[in-house]
Amino acid sequence: MRSRGDRALDKSRWFAVPACVAAPGSRRFIAVAGNIGVGKSTLVRFLARDYNLTPRYEPNEGNPYLKDFYADMRRWSFHSQVYFLAKKFRIHQELSETEERVIQDRTIYEDAEIFAENLYRRRQMSKRDYQTYRDLYESIVRQLRPPDLMIYLTCSMRTVRKRIKMRGRPEEQAIPIGYLRRLQQLYDSWFERYDRSETVVIETDKLDYIQDLVHRIDLRRRVEKVLR
Ligand SMILES: Nc1ncnc2c1ncn2[C@@H]1O[C@H](COP(=O)(O)OP(=O)(O)OP(=O)(O)O)[C@@H](O)[C@H]1O
Ligand SMILES: [Mg+2]
Repeated sequence: MRSRGDRALDKSRWFAVPACVAAPGSRRFIAVAGNIGVGKSTLVRFLARDYNLTPRYEPNEGNPYLKDFYADMRRWSFHSQVYFLAKKFRIHQELSETEERVIQDRTIYEDAEIFAENLYRRRQMSKRDYQTYRDLYESIVRQLRPPDLMIYLTCSMRTVRKRIKMRGRPEEQAIPIGYLRRLQQLYDSWFERYDRSETVVIETDKLDYIQDLVHRIDLRRRVEKVLR
């Protein structure tokens, strides 16, 4: 087992940290976390196919507050975040209760610890709204059965930008690098604190399992150790 200090030092390598883990063989609920464009959906697709897991991608049906939110963030951030939280709560419960082996693309923890937190820090959510939101989130989290395994993907900002460009979604092309960096800092500090599941960090800058057979074999070998 590794200590927290080792975790920080070992960011560039693979490792697994047992925490409140399920018994080997019962790892049914796997989650993939990480910044915009880091490669979550790609990994979920790959692992779901190769290991017969049911994928659960981020819901993309419309948040009814989103249009208002973009017009006046401070006014609508709370509503919009509570909407996302409610959606993710329901999904998380379904996943933790199902008999199937599932893999989730982005977790409820990220909604609160990264995205809502960022809005508050950027003063796009007021203090009282944030406190109410956190209260609700913390009550929800206490009720949840955490994933059995949390896969955390990281890569450099340079790679994230390259991938966002390559993916080519028009609405993403103007995402400021400062925004991605701020999210990354929140991600790193959240993950340092995260101890609800066994965790694996995958550094994806040089991991081209889509094109490169050797990388694919390496990925499988490492993932299989923790997927049993
Ligand atoms: N290991 C990898 N090597 C090379 N390219 C990759 C890798 N992983 C993902 N990509 C590419 O990077 C782009 C972004 O990946 P993906 O859509 O999986 O990110 P994401 O984390 O799901 O993003 P979002 O948070 O916006 O949903 C895609 O074009 C994908 O093909
Ligand atoms: Mg995705």
